[in-house]
Amino acid sequence: MSKVFVFDHPLIQHKLTYIRDKSTGTKEFRELVDEVAALMAFEITRDLPLQEVTIETPVGPAKSKTIAGKKLGLVPILRAGLGMVDGILKLIPAAKVGHVGLYRDPETLQPVEYYVKLPTDVEEREFIVIDPMLATGGSAVEAINSLKKRGAKNMKLMCLIAAPEGVEIVQEAHPDVDIYLAALDEKLNEKGYIVPGLGDAGDRLFGTK
Ligand code: PRP
Ligand code: URA
Repeated sequence: MSKVFVFDHPLIQHKLTYIRDKSTGTKEFRELVDEVAALMAFEITRDLPLQEVTIETPVGPAKSKTIAGKKLGLVPILRAGLGMVDGILKLIPAAKVGHVGLYRDPETLQPVEYYVKLPTDVEEREFIVIDPMLATGGSAVEAINSLKKRGAKNMKLMCLIAAPEGVEIVQEAHPDVDIYLAALDEKLNEKGYIVPGLGDAGDRLFGTK
């Protein structure tokens, strides 16, 4: 069974409050999602392996550490996942970025895939699949299926807010994929929206309705 981590860092929780607030406009919403994504990337990369190197400081030689050449890949689920990419890239600028395009059919709530483009060396990369919302879990399960079908072996899922129903579905379908969240909310409503959630992430990020 995969693990679920909820990041309780005060800065993440503080910013998430304003992301949720319906009076927060598009510009501020976008900036806050970007900032929280960066803070979450800081937490999610805690276990990256380090290697010892020797460098010269102005004072003399020093043994120090660098990240041991792990190949990382980010995969935002379009559209709303795009809002988290730049924040993460600020901390991990060398990461390659793939894209999986999915939308949730408003009637059936089933994900419909319309675009996939991944880095060529899929098998060697550790991927972080990104989406602000994990609601029924259909989109995340489908995106991870899509990556696995193309050879990806190593993945984490990072979302701002999840519903317990979505977490359970992802854990059942992909017990090898750990889930990283800023909040685990109460439930889904009858339209498949997370309660209390933040509303429609794509619409709030891009100003559509
Ligand atoms: C939203 C969200 C997730 C999905 C979550 O995308 O960004 O991808 O819904 O719901 P699920 O867990 O029930 O699948 P949406 O389908 O609204 O598409 P958009 O990002 O293009 O707006
Ligand atoms: N997609 C969203 O954008 N918000 C939700 O609450 C559920 C799915």
